[in-house]
Amino acid sequence: MQAAVFHSYGEPENITIEEVPIPEPKATQIRIRVIASAIHSADIRIRKADPFLVRFAFGLFKPRTGRLGIVYSGVVEKCPEQVTVFKEGDNVFGLCDFSPGAHAEYICVPENSAIARKPENLSHAETVSLPFGFHTALHFFKKIDVQSHKTILIIGAAGNVGIAAVQLARYHGLHITTVSALHAQSKLRQLGAEKTLTVTEFKERSEFEIYDIVLDTSDKYAYSDLVKMTRADGTLILVAGIISALLLAIWHKFRRKVTILAGPASAAAQDIDFIRELAETGQIKPDVYRTFSLREIVNAHKLAESSNKLGVVVIEI
Ligand SMILES: NC(=O)c1ccc[n+]([C@@H]2O[C@H](COP(=O)([O-])OP(=O)(O)OC[C@H]3O[C@@H](n4cnc5c(N)ncnc54)[C@H](OP(=O)(O)O)[C@@H]3O)[C@@H](O)[C@H]2O)c1
Repeated sequence: MQAAVFHSYGEPENITIEEVPIPEPKATQIRIRVIASAIHSADIRIRKADPFLVRFAFGLFKPRTGRLGIVYSGVVEKCPEQVTVFKEGDNVFGLCDFSPGAHAEYICVPENSAIARKPENLSHAETVSLPFGFHTALHFFKKIDVQSHKTILIIGAAGNVGIAAVQLARYHGLHITTVSALHAQSKLRQLGAEKTLTVTEFKERSEFEIYDIVLDTSDKYAYSDLVKMTRADGTLILVAGIISALLLAIWHKFRRKVTILAGPASAAAQDIDFIRELAETGQIKPDVYRTFSLREIVNAHKLAESSNKLGVVVIEI
């Protein structure tokens, strides 16, 4: 089968399309014929080994498997006898976070992983734009008593996680303020943002407004400023921060002030199925920016890591 493979960390040009063996499902795995995948910040971090910690998970000196692609939408193509949840021919979508490989014609995933039936009202390309951003936003929203919050500030709102956070915040009836590039503002208003600030307006504002929830996907602002913008018993969500954000979260837990949420998002099948339900009932919208073929993966990576993208960069296999 054809697959995108990279043999050394670095630039998009390190990725080539190669012929590799079709994977065989283990006893409790299913094989999926991938119809659509996408390029997300996680693929870019793995490709670049940024941060350095990536190397401990994916290969210290060079990529261990050299495979990318953590979201997929496709058709179940092979089910061993032990598999009970899915059957051949089912349309499914999901995430394979720590075992990327969806930038290929086939992928094997455990039947009990973050996988669900595809929304019936969406194409595979539309469907695959959902799981990455929404499972991340959902992971953090599930940790908050959202009903006790009224306002949210979403920084980096036009990115893949930001757009999902805006849609989930609207689903929960929150009053939404966003920070993004100017060209993203009309899209954010259509999705439910009430107040849209450009990055310059946000940086140059003379005083801080206070929000019940502040969610930052950009990692470009001082934590002390973000804490000041969060209500005393509110929640600050640092989507992008890793070790420093986790340490801050522990420190604030100890001081019992603003609750700080950080760290890797995890997803289970129920989360993916909840995303399906929200999509089928029209409460969230897919967010495809542009589609590329697998052969065009280098250009797709270049667009995905640029400021020009406004939505998800999808790969049709
Ligand atoms: N905790 C987790 O498990 C988890 C899960 C998913 C993602 N992440 C991390 O979260 C971050 C966001 O992910 P993503 O997939 O949403 O990435 P993305 O699609 O690249 O979005 C990042 C957004 O931040 C915006 N931005 C950049 N500088 C900014 C600034 N100074 N002020 C306001 N906005 C700014 C970017 O705008 P422009 O495009 O205009 O520059 C872009 O819209 C990444 O660092 C990713 O690694 C963490």
